[in-house]
Amino acid sequence: MFERLQKKWKVNGLQLALIISTFAIGGSLTGYAGRKLLNFLGMEKSALWVILYIILITILWPAAVLLVSIPFGQFRFFIKYLKKIGRRMGLVKKDDRTPMTDDRLETLAAGHPSSVIGHPSRIAVFASGAGSNAQKIIDHFKENPAVNIALIVCNNPAAGVLSIGSKENIPSLLIEKEKFFRGDAYFKELKEYKIDFIVLAGFLWKIPVSLIKEYAGKIINIHPALLPKYGGKGMYGNKVHEAVIAAGDKESGITVHYVDEIYDHGKIILQEKCTVLSTDTPEALAKKIHALEHQHYPVLIEQWIKQKREEHG
Ligand code: GRF
Repeated sequence: MFERLQKKWKVNGLQLALIISTFAIGGSLTGYAGRKLLNFLGMEKSALWVILYIILITILWPAAVLLVSIPFGQFRFFIKYLKKIGRRMGLVKKDDRTPMTDDRLETLAAGHPSSVIGHPSRIAVFASGAGSNAQKIIDHFKENPAVNIALIVCNNPAAGVLSIGSKENIPSLLIEKEKFFRGDAYFKELKEYKIDFIVLAGFLWKIPVSLIKEYAGKIINIHPALLPKYGGKGMYGNKVHEAVIAAGDKESGITVHYVDEIYDHGKIILQEKCTVLSTDTPEALAKKIHALEHQHYPVLIEQWIKQKREEHG
């Protein structure tokens, strides 16, 4: 049950524990405050008392959980949660979910009770293919005022990720080999878009050293295997899964790591595993790997950015 909740809310185990605690304490606080208030009004227990009590706790509950969520560090989760309920009840306009403009993000961030947010971090997603990870990342951050998926960078004019960019109203930058590897690596454009972090999601070109230096410790990649196995030049897509199956490995998985000068080599941040069955085809394994990526990469990015922002004040 807990695993299902983790998946549904896209949170890790610790966050789930904090959320459940917030629900529990917020709920008890609401009940206590409701009873105290009715006692204060000197009301006798009756049908009217019960009706008033229900009305009171309905009004007090959102405020109580929001209050409790602050020390538990879960304010953002509960604001989103309450908005969702509000939308379902028709109290919050549906179009509140549409992609936020930069102005709206800035306003939201400035008005956010948690001063931790400040200026939203701007992410460039580098991708060369279909972009299913890019889509999950975009979806994950849609209502997060602290993070703005500000740019899609792509080297392949036929890549599906470009359609995702235009559908989601996110600017795309189609890059050329010459300028990327022998020019300024599009540094000027990345600065113009005020990019703070770079997230690779199926990007097939090596990142030039100049860019790694400019964005030191701010570029991460996801690889569809358990590095250091099955990494390096030419190891991408189904080639990775074919190699895993050919070697008879019983498990594979995903690796999120920092990007350094060597392909698939930088410090590992996260690994998640899945089983490889003897009947698995490369396509079947790819499906399992994609599911793991979609589940973990956006959440990891959120935690990583939060940590980076805390480190840099
Ligand atoms: C993913 O499996 C990722 O690990 C690898 O490239 C694939 C991209 O898939 N680096 P998608 O384009 O996000 O669907």
